[in-house]
Amino acid sequence: MPMSSPYCHWIIPRGVRFAVLFAALLALLAACSSEPEGPALTLPPLPWPSDALEPLISQRTIKLHHGKHHAAYVDKANTLIANSRYEGKPVEEILAATRGKKRHTALFNNTAQAWNHAFFWTCLTPEGNAKPEGALAEAINTEFGGWNAFRSAFIEASLSHFGSGWVWLVRDKGALRILTTANADTPVAQGLTPLFTIDLWEHAYYLDVQNRRKAYVEGVFDGLANWKAAEKRYNAGKP
Ligand SMILES: [Fe+2]
Repeated sequence: MPMSSPYCHWIIPRGVRFAVLFAALLALLAACSSEPEGPALTLPPLPWPSDALEPLISQRTIKLHHGKHHAAYVDKANTLIANSRYEGKPVEEILAATRGKKRHTALFNNTAQAWNHAFFWTCLTPEGNAKPEGALAEAINTEFGGWNAFRSAFIEASLSHFGSGWVWLVRDKGALRILTTANADTPVAQGLTPLFTIDLWEHAYYLDVQNRRKAYVEGVFDGLANWKAAEKRYNAGKP
């Protein structure tokens, strides 16, 4: 009687071996071909020196606002996006998909604040004492009844907005609209084209003018608003 082997031999069918090898090869190819995902959002550099908007907006405010508040929104948004199904998606798509969804509140808020702030810096300029020209100026005249009426409506909307948020001039298809959004909410998630905004959160002005939101909004509107950038957005139909 033949002695039984002390070892257990596993015989793997040839077809199974081939399938295992093929799966391993596919996994290797996928790992080699996929680029590592970069962060969805980055902190953009300011378009002017941090003291360029003084005296209305101090260097201290800008450094805190950009280097702490905006940077924190970017970091938090990237962490939340990296752990979600939205990794690798365009930011505007993420905002539209998560707006109003309770389970994505933190992701939406931080991503929207990152987008809003990046947009806000481009709405400001130390040479902001000019009014819009060209097609945007004509549209403002037609839809609001002139520059002074537009200015009054924009400032009134800013002052009547309760709490934190943003005041916007947007293009809604063909029309211009002034609107405010609460907290992090953003028109870019609503299919609108933002042309200009002012940050109404207290962190934007409290160190410089304390609770005088009117002084801050009027000062930005009359002296720091980048209407050239708004004109380009209006003409292009995109933010
Ligand atoms: Fe802000």
